[in-house]
Amino acid sequence: MSKQVVLTGITTTGTPHLGNYVGAIRPAVEASRRSDVDGYYFMADYHALVKNTDPDGLQQSSLEQAATWLALGLDTKTAVFYRQSDIPEIPEFTWILNSVTAKGLMNRAHAYKAAVAANELAGSRDPDQGITMALFCYPVLMAADILMFRANKVPVGKDQQQHVEMARDIAQRFNHHFGEILVVPEAVIGENTAVLSGLDGRKMSKSYNNTIPLFAPAKRLRKLIMKIKTNSLEPGEPKETEGCTLFEIYQAFATEPEVEAMRRRYAGGIGWGELKQELFEYIDAHLCEAREEYNRLIAAPDHIESVLLSGAERAREVATPLLAEIRQAVGIRRLG
Ligand code: TRP
Repeated sequence: MSKQVVLTGITTTGTPHLGNYVGAIRPAVEASRRSDVDGYYFMADYHALVKNTDPDGLQQSSLEQAATWLALGLDTKTAVFYRQSDIPEIPEFTWILNSVTAKGLMNRAHAYKAAVAANELAGSRDPDQGITMALFCYPVLMAADILMFRANKVPVGKDQQQHVEMARDIAQRFNHHFGEILVVPEAVIGENTAVLSGLDGRKMSKSYNNTIPLFAPAKRLRKLIMKIKTNSLEPGEPKETEGCTLFEIYQAFATEPEVEAMRRRYAGGIGWGELKQELFEYIDAHLCEAREEYNRLIAAPDHIESVLLSGAERAREVATPLLAEIRQAVGIRRLG
C-alpha cells in the first residue's frame, strides 16, 4: 500500500508568533519526522498576495517563515518543503479547477461572506466593495495546492476546514466529469492543539496585534511577557489557572508534572511578577537554541533559497506528471 500523503500550507504574512508555534508549527514539524507518511509543507505565497500590497513585507515574511520551520527542525529529507510560487503547475491547475467550480460554492465561503458582511455593516452601497477576485477564488487555489499532490490528509486550523471541504467538492466534480484522477482529501482538525491567548487575553493573532514573536530576542521576549494582562490579585492570594493567559502559555510548553506543580503554586498564591519572570526563563530556555539557528538562517537567505528550490524540484516530480494527465483528461492536448 502506498503511504498516506499529508500536506499543509503556511500563508506568508507576518512574523511567526508563539500561537502559530504551538498551534501549527510544532505539531507539523513533529509530523515531518514520521517515515510512514509522505509529508508536503509549503509557503503559500500566492495566498499571501491576496491580502498583501507590501512586496517587501511579503518577501520578508517568506524568509522568516521558512527560517522558522527549518530552525525548528523540519525534516527536509523526509518531507518535501517548497514554495507555492515555484510550482507553475499550481496556477495552471487552478485555472482548470475554476472550470469545474460552482460560483455558488465560492459565494458560501466564510472569508468572502465576512468581507461582504463587513461592507454591509459599514453601509457601503456595493457589497463587494474592495473585494478582489483573489479573495473570492482563494479556495480554488487552495484546492489546487491540495489536489496537485494527491493529499489524503490536510492538517489545518478550524478556520480552514471549510476550504478543505470545498477542495473535496471540487475534486469530486472534476472526477465526475473527467474520470477518477484526483484524490478526495480530508481535513484533520487538531482538536487538542493549543490555542494561545495573546497579550490582551484575546486569541493570539496578528489581526489583534497582541502577539509574542516566536524568536523575539530574549530582552524583548521578557518585556512582552511582562506586559501580559493579569488580574489585580496580590502575591499570597490564591489564583485561578482557568482562563489565565500566563498559565495557558506555560502549559503549552511545560511537561505534565511541571504543570501540576504550577497548579499548586497558583493555589498557594504565587505572585504575578514572579510567575512572569519564571515563564520568561522557561520559554527562553526552550527556544534559545532554535532562536540561534533561526538567526543564522535569516543571515543566509541564499541557503534557504536553495533548500526551497530543491524542495520545489521534488514537488514537481509529482506535479508535472499529474498535470500532464489532467491536461490530457480535460482535452488540452497536442494535435498530432
Ligand atoms: N489558507 C491556509 C491558511 O491561511 C494556508 C494554505 C494555503 C493551506 N494552501 C493550503 C493549508 C493548502 C492547507 C492546504 O492557513
